[in-house]
Amino acid sequence: MIEKETTSTFNKSTGLPRKRFYRARAHSNPLSDSHFPVPLSPSQFDYSLHYPQLFPVPSDDDNPKRIQFADIGCGFGGLLVALSTLFPDKLMIGMEIRDKVTEYVKERISALRTTNPGQYQNISVVRTNSMKYIPNYFEKGHLTKMFFLFPDPHFKEKNHRRRVISPHLLDEYAYTLAVGGIIYTITDVEELGEWMKGCLENHPMFEALTEEELENDPVVKLLISATEEGQKVARNGGQTFQAVYRRIAPSL
Ligand SMILES: C[S@@+](CC[C@H](N)C(=O)[O-])C[C@H]1O[C@@H](n2cnc3c(N)ncnc32)[C@H](O)[C@@H]1O
Repeated sequence: MIEKETTSTFNKSTGLPRKRFYRARAHSNPLSDSHFPVPLSPSQFDYSLHYPQLFPVPSDDDNPKRIQFADIGCGFGGLLVALSTLFPDKLMIGMEIRDKVTEYVKERISALRTTNPGQYQNISVVRTNSMKYIPNYFEKGHLTKMFFLFPDPHFKEKNHRRRVISPHLLDEYAYTLAVGGIIYTITDVEELGEWMKGCLENHPMFEALTEEELENDPVVKLLISATEEGQKVARNGGQTFQAVYRRIAPSL
């Protein structure tokens, strides 16, 4: 009996999946090709597979709801879970490259839906390489929030091209975000924090939120408290470096 309980992939009392059964290598190479399905274009993304209660019919073009928030490199999905109840009317997706971690998030959402009927219907996850496939998922001006929380630092200079924030990827994110949309970044690696802030500061389509706007945005507090990496840093008393920027219209 005891053996059965400890080898179950789900926690008996919470019904949630146990992380230790979904361990994966710490890093994936975002430049190498992986084999997972990718929609050919955003219109081919099947919302009914991800949000079945909200999209009972596949490819329902009459349903105006679209994904608005994307958590890039969502890891174990803590932010999505916290945002789900904070913004119950918004659809959100986590994008994660590691297969076991993606499986964990799927199981986590499924368990939350079962134990909280009617809730957590607005969040989902896809296994994908965000550095290559964001335009396959989102149209121009599609998103209102993008999250890049505790991304892999890729310390060596020759690996900076693997970073998820870079001048050329910001062009893509600016295309994907609606004007007024917000990009949230945070890290515990000072050099990466400076890099991300520098890239955003130098990009013509982004401007920093003011201190007052940061104070009033309830999402900013979640960057540390709701993410697994943020919680780890907080437990160890580490420092964090955030950069939160708004997509602006280009000046003519
Ligand atoms: C350090 S973890 C941070 C996880 C989460 N954001 C958090 O704060 O707890 C970085 C995550 O990004 C994922 N990742 C790295 N490169 C990626 C890519 N190109 N596309 C999608 N996910 C990626 C990694 O697999 C990992 O789970």
